[in-house]
Amino acid sequence: MHKMLPLLLTTLLACYRQTEGSYQYLAGHQIWKLGGKESALPGQLMADGLLDILDHSRKLQQVRVAPHHIDRVSELLQKDGISYEILVDDLASHVEGIENSERRRRDVSGNHQTCTESHCPEPLTDVYMRFDQMEWYLKQLNETHYPNVSLSSIGKSHENRDIWLLHIKSNKPDARAIWIEGGIHARERISPAVAFGLISKLATGDGAKYNDFDFFLAPMANPDGYEYTFTGDRMWRKNRRANSHQRSNCYGVDLNRNWDFKFGVGASNYPCSEVYMGPSPFSEPETKALKDAMLERNGSLLMLFSLHSYGQDLLYPWGWTSQEEAENKDELVRVGQAFAEGAREIHNHDYDVVNSAGGLYYASGATDDWAYSETSARYAYTLELRDKGERGFLLTSEAIKPSIEEVWNGFQKILQNIG
Ligand SMILES: *[C@@H]1O[C@H](CO)[C@@H](O)[C@H](O)[C@H]1NC(C)=O
Ligand SMILES: *[C@@H]1O[C@H](CO)[C@@H](O)[C@H](O)[C@H]1NC(C)=O
Ligand SMILES: *[C@@H]1O[C@H](CO)[C@@H](O)[C@H](O)[C@H]1NC(C)=O
Ligand SMILES: [Zn+2]
Repeated sequence: MHKMLPLLLTTLLACYRQTEGSYQYLAGHQIWKLGGKESALPGQLMADGLLDILDHSRKLQQVRVAPHHIDRVSELLQKDGISYEILVDDLASHVEGIENSERRRRDVSGNHQTCTESHCPEPLTDVYMRFDQMEWYLKQLNETHYPNVSLSSIGKSHENRDIWLLHIKSNKPDARAIWIEGGIHARERISPAVAFGLISKLATGDGAKYNDFDFFLAPMANPDGYEYTFTGDRMWRKNRRANSHQRSNCYGVDLNRNWDFKFGVGASNYPCSEVYMGPSPFSEPETKALKDAMLERNGSLLMLFSLHSYGQDLLYPWGWTSQEEAENKDELVRVGQAFAEGAREIHNHDYDVVNSAGGLYYASGATDDWAYSETSARYAYTLELRDKGERGFLLTSEAIKPSIEEVWNGFQKILQNIG
């Protein structure tokens, strides 16, 4: 091969990637709304990599089907007595339309998502930040508020990005700790956006009055996957592990199925599935970093608060079974209701407080069940943020600001109710 050819190819590929956007891959993908009886079949099809269930609580019953699976899935659903209605018939053009309107908004607002060495825009509430922008903001906070606020890298992702942990310190010596995790699922862009909103409230705003607590925030738990939603596939959920150990061409482990508690119940061992749990518990550098950092604070951990989307639900354990109740379920519900009331006060949006495992659906190996079972945290919540399925993961950036406002108010009610 000519010496220059690899370089030329790499350059061409880079240019191609830049113009490619994050939706071409989604050509022919459809979003369906399932109807009919409750059935375990969709969960099975998800494990088999034939279907992508979009909303966790599944009350909206929205699923994504790839073009080469449409006939097969349609047939299997019909056999099982499940009906479906097509909500989006070509996800590529649907995503393209939304990305174009987002780009116009960004141009109008004057904010640009590129960082130079000396400058990066402020933490944004009107567009979704890229990873370099998030890092820049975290480092700024550390510089200006150290040692009351301190930043550390607790590990590296597969693609060598830092997993950042921000500590907002209490002035009490033996304060209880609140752990907030964001961005573990790549496509749920509103999750890190809200995590950064909470960071800015807690570190620079009225947060000072909650100084009795130690706050630990890991706002971007899956940086590779998140960046890939901008450069490769807008609907990407998992991390970016190459699953060559399984002789599979499919990438990614579902980081919210990789924790070591009831590993494998309600997850999949098939690398092409969206809920692939990985080769072993904590096989992923991202989950291992988070786990180790949480266990360092075990004993003082009081609550885990994990941010996801979508569906507007506040979920409490267990997720792995609906046969067993959380030991302090009444307390989890009481505090959860306080959150929901606080959130509703702001923009009148409803959040339902529900058991994580609903009906026939289970999820195991998730952060919330693990933290509740294996650490001193007596409170563990997964918050499914906006919306209720209108945009789903493609929630536009107008929703960032009101989401932060309502979640902040709800979150304060939690802080006032636990202890
Ligand atoms: C945080 O700030 C301190 C004090 O300026 C500095 O020593 C440390 O390296 C900073 N940490 C990061 C991750 O930037
Ligand atoms: C850190 O907190 C202390 C006590 O609350 C305060 O006096 C000090 O000004 C704070 N330092 C910074 C850099 O914010
Ligand atoms: C964390 O602390 C709790 C008690 O506070 C203890 O029961 C649990 O075993 C600890 N977890 C680990 C993994 O050591
Ligand atoms: Zn999620």
